[in-house]
Amino acid sequence: MELIPCTTEFADIFWSWRQEPATRAFNPLKAMTPEQAREHLGNCTSDLSELKEATDYRWFVREGGEVVGIVSLKSVSATMATGEIGYSLGEKYRGRGLGTAAVRLLVDKLFAETALRKLTAYVHSENVASCRLLERLGFRREGLLREHYMVEGHAVDEALYGLLRREWARA
Ligand SMILES: CC(C)(COP(=O)(O)OP(=O)(O)OC[C@H]1O[C@@H](n2cnc3c(N)ncnc32)[C@H](O)[C@@H]1OP(=O)(O)O)[C@@H](O)C(=O)NCCC(=O)NCCS
Repeated sequence: MELIPCTTEFADIFWSWRQEPATRAFNPLKAMTPEQAREHLGNCTSDLSELKEATDYRWFVREGGEVVGIVSLKSVSATMATGEIGYSLGEKYRGRGLGTAAVRLLVDKLFAETALRKLTAYVHSENVASCRLLERLGFRREGLLREHYMVEGHAVDEALYGLLRREWARA
């Protein structure tokens, strides 16, 4: 498996993943046309050399010659040296360890190529696969943010997860 730089070449598949009910059930996704998805990806970067706040960093996940998902970093705070990760696989690629492997590569990359001290993730409290994935990688559940996001018209609780650089180094 490898993480490859974000490119608009995969805009259509990225858009199609966002339409899948199992993805929409747990994530606050803005409605987008395929054209807006292309534009969105065009505004993302994969260059970590100079971390900027308000920038979306993204990489596609390639496994066995196929693009199977996407991982991201956003909400970087240069002052606090923190950032929030995200990840999503196409529905047909789920449930066989690929998500865990992709996020492991992402965390390795972020701690190797940046000076970030801490990574966070927000997870719908009922998104069991995502919670398990983070816990398996050593993220700790730090709290529950009540009715924090709107998902499909409903206010939902989000679990806040965090991982410190030194915890990853130990793992
Ligand atoms: C969350 C996601 C990336 C997980 O990827 P995945 O490849 O399906 O997960 P893995 O196969 O690596 O499994 C991770 C853990 O979840 C468990 N799991 C997987 N699918 C599950 C399911 N449907 N229900 C319950 N547990 C599940 C696995 O058993 C594993 O736990 P374990 O290590 O204790 O055995 C994937 O489901 C996805 O893309 N979901 C939609 C987008 C999303 O919700 N992203 C997260 C935003 S916070």
